Amino acid sequence: MDQVNVALLGFGTVGQGTYELLTKNQELIANRSGVAIKVKRIFVRNVDKYKEYELANETSFTTDFQEILNDESIQIVVEVMGGTDFAAQCVEQCLAAGKNVATANKDLLADQGPYLLDLASKNNVDLRYEASVLGGIPIIRTLYESLGGNKITELIGILNGTTNFILSNMTEKGAGYEEVLKEAQALGFAEADPTSDVEGYDAARKLAILSSIAFNRKLFFDDVNCEGITSIDATDIAFGKEFGYTIKLLGIAKETKKGISLNVHPAFIDSHHPLASVRGSYNALYVKGNGIDDAMFYGRGAGSLPTGSSVVSDIMEIAKNVVTNQTGQLISYYYADKNLYAPGKIESSYYIRLLVANNTGVLAKVASKLAEQRISVQSVIQRNESEKAATLAIVTSVCPQAYIMNVINAFKNLRVVREIGSVIRIMAE
Ligand code: HSE
Repeated sequence: MDQVNVALLGFGTVGQGTYELLTKNQELIANRSGVAIKVKRIFVRNVDKYKEYELANETSFTTDFQEILNDESIQIVVEVMGGTDFAAQCVEQCLAAGKNVATANKDLLADQGPYLLDLASKNNVDLRYEASVLGGIPIIRTLYESLGGNKITELIGILNGTTNFILSNMTEKGAGYEEVLKEAQALGFAEADPTSDVEGYDAARKLAILSSIAFNRKLFFDDVNCEGITSIDATDIAFGKEFGYTIKLLGIAKETKKGISLNVHPAFIDSHHPLASVRGSYNALYVKGNGIDDAMFYGRGAGSLPTGSSVVSDIMEIAKNVVTNQTGQLISYYYADKNLYAPGKIESSYYIRLLVANNTGVLAKVASKLAEQRISVQSVIQRNESEKAATLAIVTSVCPQAYIMNVINAFKNLRVVREIGSVIRIMAE
């Protein structure tokens, strides 16, 4: 059997999951791929940290990246360090030196994906990144290969496990954001600095990578309009339930005749929608295509073995290409010239929560401001807070985001509106 040698850059959660699968499923992987895959070197910064870790005889740690770069027997380098600067340098140098690369690094792909893919192709080597998005859910290869015959029109994803854990727990326990965030940190779901997750940046990077493939346009993190979950309140979740909605942080990418729109924001979805059943730290992607109609992919978006499973699939694919001399073939990549659609024009219905004076005619005043913007009211729930104040939870008709911004500004100048609690989009079916 042909043998292919691999080096891992990094030996954290994903690196160890990858190594564990390659070791414990060694025979199965060899039989399925027809290649004996051997991990020769593992690059780490501090070998002492891994003293207790038992490696196979054929595998050794190194702290010298150049040793891997200059080792001609290593055909595949697996970048599982994360971060951008050093990881980018390593990936670039490996590709330029004629080494194939598998990476789990979404930050790198969302910033420099098209450039690195080009570099790989120019050097006749493979660059694969199945593990960079949605951990154990095999979605990258699914989009470019299995769904290659579809014109994809929409991706709707729960792309971040931390925020889904937080929102699910707020929904199920009626707890507040801060309380659940602390619990998520204590359980190791949320990072000590949760910014990238809770502000939606992590989901935005994933959406950019997926959308580049789905819509055949170079798309980057900066192309995504992004809003996080930090202002979501237990009160809104409770009103949402009364309207039949569940709150989720969604990544929504659409291609219409007007262009491509990319958005990450919290949204209410119908509680019967399949995405509403995605609870805890699980991820899912709902894909609409003109062949498949609708399909949903569900699973673990992070974790050692789930993410390792995706990395191993890349290693196996590259290894087969190495032994058959087929590396460097672009994986159905072509980029078309397409517009990005301005966020203000994106249409949706909205949930608006207001604290208002509890007087005669207040509802009429609020409704008239909505009418001035050609927004009609679909439903209202009123909850009296005291003799003098009431909360209005309003669901509007579908309208452009710009109209909602206008009406919110109008509410700011309306004396009977004491506080604008929340404005949350409602995803259409
Ligand atoms: N922090 C991410 C999440 C996992 O919570 O989904 C890695 O992308």
